[in-house]
Amino acid sequence: MKPRAILFATSEMAPWVKTGGLGDVAAALPEALRQAGHDVRVLLPAYPAVKQAFPMAEMVAELPALAPALPACRLLAAQAGQLPLLLLDCPALFDRPGNPYLDADGHDWADNAARFGLLSRIAARLGQAASPLDWQPDIVHCNDWQTALAPAWLHYEGGAASVVTVHNIAFQGCFGREMLGGLGLPEHSWRFDHVEYHGQLSFLKAGLQLATLLSTVSPTYAREIQDEHFGYGLAPLLRHRAPSLRGILNGVDTDLWNPATDPALAAGYAANRLAAKRANKVALQAEMGLEITADRPLFGVISRLTHQKGLDLLLTVGDGLPHLPAQLVVLGSGDKALEAGFRQLAGRFPGQIAVKIGFSENLAHRIEAGADCFVMPSRFEPCGLNQMYSLRYGTPPIVRATGGLADTVVDVNDETLAERSANGFVLDGDTPHALWLTLERASRAWHDKRLWQRIQQNGMRRDFSWQNAAAEYGALYRDALAIHA
Ligand code: ADP
Ligand code: GLC
Repeated sequence: MKPRAILFATSEMAPWVKTGGLGDVAAALPEALRQAGHDVRVLLPAYPAVKQAFPMAEMVAELPALAPALPACRLLAAQAGQLPLLLLDCPALFDRPGNPYLDADGHDWADNAARFGLLSRIAARLGQAASPLDWQPDIVHCNDWQTALAPAWLHYEGGAASVVTVHNIAFQGCFGREMLGGLGLPEHSWRFDHVEYHGQLSFLKAGLQLATLLSTVSPTYAREIQDEHFGYGLAPLLRHRAPSLRGILNGVDTDLWNPATDPALAAGYAANRLAAKRANKVALQAEMGLEITADRPLFGVISRLTHQKGLDLLLTVGDGLPHLPAQLVVLGSGDKALEAGFRQLAGRFPGQIAVKIGFSENLAHRIEAGADCFVMPSRFEPCGLNQMYSLRYGTPPIVRATGGLADTVVDVNDETLAERSANGFVLDGDTPHALWLTLERASRAWHDKRLWQRIQQNGMRRDFSWQNAAAEYGALYRDALAIHA
């Protein structure tokens, strides 16, 4: 594989800024690409947490204001291990506390068009002859709407080839027409087959329309988003660009998510040393105030609490769990109604159902290890990382057959058991009743200890490392450059 110079542009990167899976991907994929021999640099806003993490970051460029809404900014260079980072420093836009996208009331920051317009603008500029750096990428790799406007400038002004990866098509970055001038886009870009989308400027549409090649994070989601139900209005465009769209399944950071060495756990374990997993269940029950018992399965959830994740189905049937009998532990935050619903559910069943509203990386690891079974009935799931973490942690997932869940979870039945691929439970339908039947089915399987161990081991032995994905991205870059030449 020929090494390429890649600018990986992202609005999140774990562990410094993470609201979901994009943060994990941005931490692991560029490093896997670097290890595959590519010359990768990550472009990331210098949020307060990022600046704190890299106090020694060195200024490498100053850029003037490039449009009325885009202030002057600086680029700072830092290193995450051996991976070079370019931090986009613009205090007026990025030096504020809390969530990268939302204010304290949970509303989008009012100036998000300028914030991520600047991130996209600078990503494009670094791929152009006018770049202030003495390093030029062959490819500008954009992720989600926050960087998806970069291909527009590369298209109008020339520069590197571009790739847009869709991590979630439900978020599209749509703003008023006045932002066209504000961001310095040319008047002629206001076309339905360029950046205009139902009378608005859409960052994601612009990228999907104008990038050299497109990808999304699982093969099934790549097909689904061409369908009206999943495409959130962009299905016709994606059908049009289908030959340029690939589905590349995300990987898992196998160092960070390794039950044998995970420092957050009470006891390490592996596929051939599963007995030690039990100590993690006891520790989790104790930590969450659950009854310490080995006579019933413990279901786990770690999630953004949003419509996407289908956890309203779990709320609907939640009162049945203690009678199954089973225990439940939930870690999540988001939608206020779902947060309240889960709090109330826990209130009705102390000792059997425990809910923690918030974000905790360490507790997430302990739930993956301590739960018996992971519940993720998503309505759509571009890839999903938690079900892969669950598989690695011997915690078989319960999922709907959508997106990356369909590509990673193999339902338990006679045939899949015989071929040793059975690793979890897939809902038959999308109703609360379908979820309930699957919870019952999983609970019965859990009581059959030999069967359960086979299911656990099938999941734990599957290879989810990033090397496979890095090789596929390498091929995508090669093809993008051939088209761009
Ligand atoms: P999405 O990106 O749609 O939220 P993924 O499954 O791809 O879904 O990734 C979610 C990531 O965020 C996982 O690493 C998961 O552990 C983490 N996560 C989600 N909610 C929480 C939480 N409340 N506390 C800790 N980690 C969380
Ligand atoms: C998005 C998706 C999730 C995916 C993640 C990383 O947040 O909702 O399914 O795993 O991006 O690609």
